[in-house]
Amino acid sequence: DFIKEVSGIRVLEKKLREKLNLDHVVVVPGDSDELPWVKQEMGRACVHYLKGILESNNTIAITGGTTMAAVAEMMTPLTGAPDCLFVPARGGLGERVENQANTICVEMARKAKGDYRLLYVPDPLSEDTYHSITSEPSIKEILDLIKNSDTVIHGIGNALTMAERRRTPPEQVEKIKQGHGVGEAFGYYFNQQGEIVHKARTVGLQLEDLTDSQQVIAVAGGESKARAIASYFKPGKSNVLITDEGAAQKLLREE
Ligand code: G3H
Repeated sequence: DFIKEVSGIRVLEKKLREKLNLDHVVVVPGDSDELPWVKQEMGRACVHYLKGILESNNTIAITGGTTMAAVAEMMTPLTGAPDCLFVPARGGLGERVENQANTICVEMARKAKGDYRLLYVPDPLSEDTYHSITSEPSIKEILDLIKNSDTVIHGIGNALTMAERRRTPPEQVEKIKQGHGVGEAFGYYFNQQGEIVHKARTVGLQLEDLTDSQQVIAVAGGESKARAIASYFKPGKSNVLITDEGAAQKLLREE
């Protein structure tokens, strides 16, 4: 039965890799919507994958969210890649402290035995503040580290769930609804066609900063996130997906 289950998972991974046109897909058994420990298993799978790609002195940009917190929770010393630096990909996005990239960054670096740099900026920002803050030398230095990171690891969420969790102003929530937003990643909200319907104004990594020379790893699971995951991968900005069986099955069932 175990063999059967493993080969079933391998088939899912292959189908999903082809469907979403990705370099690599990892599917962990179970559905994190129903079983909380499945999220930790995705975290473990992400750490395992990282260990295969990271090199010494690499810079890793990470986002916030409970899935990224699970990656941090499962992190172990990166003995094969010493002196890695962890940085938050974007600002706090209005998240609670435990879900913010800064917080997760510290935990990840501590467990990996690496180092970290943090972004101290209020967000969201007004247009004026945005320009003055991003030209501040100490902020600029970190923004450059983020932009030039070797690896990016991020979560994907349901658009309205994320907008609500971040106490997004009503007119912006309305904008996301009007635009039929289904998915969210890095503070960008996408509709089913993968078009951006809203973008939170914060400093840090912008979607257009992602390049082919980077490893961009999305970690997201649970049947309830299948449409969100599909929407994010429509324009295809990440090359690796770490997910669970719940999301994978649903993604393959839907068009
Ligand atoms: O940035 C947050 C992610 O998009 C999703 O958060 O991992 O808590 O579902 P989550």
